[in-house]
Parts: sequence; structure tokens; C-alpha cells
Amino acid sequence: MRVAVLASGRGSNFEAIARAILEGKINAEFALLVVNRRTAEVVQRAEKLGVNWIYVDPFSFPSREDYDRRLVEILKRVGADLICLAGYNLLVSGLFVDAFPDRVLNIHPSLLPSFPGLKPHWQAVTYGVKISGVTVHLVDKGVDTGPVVAQCAVPVSPEDTPESLADKVLPWEHRLYPQVVKWFADGRVKRVGRKVVVEGADYNSLPAVPALEDF
Ligand code: GRF
Repeated sequence: MRVAVLASGRGSNFEAIARAILEGKINAEFALLVVNRRTAEVVQRAEKLGVNWIYVDPFSFPSREDYDRRLVEILKRVGADLICLAGYNLLVSGLFVDAFPDRVLNIHPSLLPSFPGLKPHWQAVTYGVKISGVTVHLVDKGVDTGPVVAQCAVPVSPEDTPESLADKVLPWEHRLYPQVVKWFADGRVKRVGRKVVVEGADYNSLPAVPALEDF
């Protein structure tokens, strides 16, 4: 399996995935990082890890579809067969999703379907939930609406701010995302209608994912 990551910002999830691959913890190769912001911190991380990256400027295309068509072309050329959105600040078009059926993943720092879209930590803290968490899901044509692959829960205290909650959740993102990529690499993930099933997972124990490996 060849993994590509699309990112726009800090890149900590990109790094967690790329490191797990480079360290041989996942039976996959890292194909390419695509960034849509030339100055994003994620580029420095890619340089440090020595993995291939490319900047494609969305503003140099007449439409989002044209931009996505170019990305698909690039990703196909490098043989990517699992695409991970990781802090990617653009919505991907239907054209992109259709090019990689059930092979585009996203990570969202809430327990979807709660708090989709922007500022999920602010939404969770403002709502007053006692448990938030992380979701890795297949990307469909909606915003954070695709089938859930895995989730893990993180407690929220009344003192939490959006920033402190983000700090609590992030380390779990860095464990969950590489774990999901590994499940794909091991051929354990299948989709049954709306449900995604990970073979061998014990869905009756909490958290609802097998003990996460320490990536
Ligand atoms: C993460 O919290 C991710 O879940 C969300 O945006 C943030 C990106 O962080 N989609 P990073 O760029 O991976 O450090």
C-alpha cells in the first residue's frame, strides 16, 4: 500500500503517519505529501523526515474541480492508494472522492456526528459535553459525514478551554490515525453499507477500538 497525505498547516498528524511508516510499524510506503500552502509548517516536517512533498497552488486553477483533477493525476502517478487528509483545510470534490473509492480518510477531533465542521473543540466546550474525542472516517461528499472507521473518547472537564481540550485530544489523534492506516495496510478494513468493520476488533470493549498501539 502507498500512502499519501494532504495537509495545510502544522502537520503533526502527517508526521505521526509518516514516522510510523518510516519506522516500519506499518506495512506500507509513504508516497507523497501534498500541501496547498507553500509556507505551512508541515513542509518543514516533511523535509526533516526526508519524504517527498509537493506544493500545488489551488489559486492557479480556474475551479476546485480542476485543482482536484490535478491532485488525482499526481496521486495516481505516484501510485498512492490510501489518501489521508490531515489538517487539510479544503473540502475535496466528488471527483476526488470518486477517484479513490473508500480510500480517502479524514481525522476530525470530535466524536462525530457531534461537532462537525469548524472549531470542534470550541463547539464541544460551549455545549458542555463531558466526553469528546477523535474520529477517523472515510470521506464522502459531505462535511465530516462519511462512515466512521474508528473513534476514541477523551474526557472534558468544566475548566477546559478549546485550547486545553485540543491539547488533550491531539496525542490520541497521533495514535488513532496511524493505527487506522495500519488496519488498512493489513487488509482488515471492510465496508458493509454505512458501517466500516475492522476484522478482529473487539467492539464490545471500551474504547471501541482495540488497544491502540503506541505509535
Ligand atoms: C487536527 O486536530 C485534526 O484533527 C484537524 O486539524 C488539526 C490538524 O493538526 N482536522 P495537524 O496539522 O495534524 O497538526
